[in-house]
Amino acid sequence: MNAKALPVKYSQTTITELMIPSYANFGGKIHGGILLSLMDKVAYACASKHAGTYCVTVSVDKVEFLQPVEVGELVSLKASVNYVGRTSLVVGIRVEAQNVKTGIIKHTNSSFFTMVAKGEDDKPSVVPQLILENKEEVKRFIESMKMKEIKNAVREQMDDAKSKVHVENAEQFLKSERCIIQI
Ligand SMILES: CC(C)(COP(=O)(O)OP(=O)(O)OC[C@H]1O[C@@H](n2cnc3c(N)ncnc32)[C@H](O)[C@@H]1OP(=O)(O)O)[C@@H](O)C(=O)NCCC(=O)NCCS
Repeated sequence: MNAKALPVKYSQTTITELMIPSYANFGGKIHGGILLSLMDKVAYACASKHAGTYCVTVSVDKVEFLQPVEVGELVSLKASVNYVGRTSLVVGIRVEAQNVKTGIIKHTNSSFFTMVAKGEDDKPSVVPQLILENKEEVKRFIESMKMKEIKNAVREQMDDAKSKVHVENAEQFLKSERCIIQI
């Protein structure tokens, strides 16, 4: 385990991979699942480098595929630790695809992976503090803190909303929805 505080740049990681035909879906574009798998890989590499331990993925936020990725493009995934808690880390990932012939680079998606460091006993272990060396890093740290607060509030509201669902009034409640109840 890394004990002393580490700067963001210590664990910044980039993975570049060529999009081969076997990654494509029936429409000829790259499967979203391939990109998610690569994102998980780079998040792991970045988080475990900072933590100095094995890490697990706990949650993934904001996955939006803004533009399709084509076979033959070079996809680069850039990962940075944006925030550290006691045992968790938020890794921000930016995905870009480059057309090798034209050199044009497009931003295909950005996402945030929350990872938790695990010790030898498989329990969450404390991660090093994060050294923020510029305003952008400070901004990202604060943004992550705010997102964490919002997520916790939304999780509570969702649990509350789920506990209040009663199927007895469903016919009335769903009358303008595109479903047919055939119980
Ligand atoms: C994630 C895991 C370690 C949490 O275990 P736990 O006993 O609940 O641990 P804690 O309550 O101490 O939480 C540990 C950290 O995880 C964070 N955490 C827990 N659940 C979370 C969630 N749903 N979203 C974001 N962070 C979460 C906590 O905030 C805490 O962070 P902090 O120490 O920085 O404050 C445990 O649920 C686990 O191992 N899950 C499986 C993960 C895995 O296998 N992933 C691979 C996908 S198959």
